[in-house]
Amino acid sequence: MTSKLLKSLFVAAGAVAVIATGGAFAAGGSSDYKMEHKHWHFNGPFGTYDKAAAQRGYQVYREVCSSCHQLKFLSFRHLGDKGAPFHMEDYPNPNDNPYVKNFAADWTIQDIDSDTGDVIDRPGITADNFPPIYANDAAARASNGGALPPELSVIVKARTGGADYVYNLLTAYDAHKPDDVELTPGLYYNPVMEGGKIAMAAPLSEGIIEYAPTTDAEGNEIAAPEATVEQMAADVTEFLAWSADPKMEQRKGTGIMTMVYLFLLSILLWFSYKRVWRHVEH
Ligand code: HEC
Repeated sequence: MTSKLLKSLFVAAGAVAVIATGGAFAAGGSSDYKMEHKHWHFNGPFGTYDKAAAQRGYQVYREVCSSCHQLKFLSFRHLGDKGAPFHMEDYPNPNDNPYVKNFAADWTIQDIDSDTGDVIDRPGITADNFPPIYANDAAARASNGGALPPELSVIVKARTGGADYVYNLLTAYDAHKPDDVELTPGLYYNPVMEGGKIAMAAPLSEGIIEYAPTTDAEGNEIAAPEATVEQMAADVTEFLAWSADPKMEQRKGTGIMTMVYLFLLSILLWFSYKRVWRHVEH
């Protein structure tokens, strides 16, 4: 009876271990490509987003990815929220943040003229959501050889392997294609994809953008590194990790404060226990 129980416990533990380690990275084509595990700034219980990297990542998204991929669940003002890449201490209300206002104005939003009812184009404001790139899914497929570019704001949560998956997807294009993968026109070899095929041409190439300097929360400028493929892939992944979990920093902060509180409470309880029972033999 007990051995049976132990056995099933072992099996369960084994299954958990497989899911937690190898299983998570089982995706991949038929090549011997090995997923690169990066050390992300946001991993771990004290991890925070690297704001400068996420700011550059927004630039990569805007200048490269946004011609095909929407950020459906974000509005412009989210970029300036606490914990967000462009949060500035001088602008606790992101609607006043000059960066956020400029980014919003840089997009064209389709709206309805309230007087005439006509469809009009106007510059974005901070309260707007990131607009759709295509009129509908059929139009998106028509422009991409039949494939649908997924919306990216939650892609880091939506794919097994998370940030490592997205980073590797963007950097693995040059990996050697095995002979048994046949590509039809419009398909590209990428060992991170199931079957090794993807309908997205390598979006990043050396020097495709020139990084603008970034700023910290106090408004000081930080020089940008060179825009290599790895750098751009890491930066856009940092940005997409933030967009998939914008409240992470607040959540971790609350967790730490709860631990501190419980620690102090246990000390207090220990001393009150000692005091309450001090005259009792035990
Ligand atoms: C020219 C259009 C185009 C551009 C630009 C583009 N993509 Fe894509 N992307 C696609 C299409 C189409 C797909 C769907 C591919 C498929 O289903 O095979 C896709 C798929 C993806 C996927 C999902 C892969 C999966 O696991 O299903 C990710 C992640 C992604 N793109 C990220 C990016 C990032 C990040 C950028 C910018 C650096 C970018 N893309 C730029 C067209 C594009």
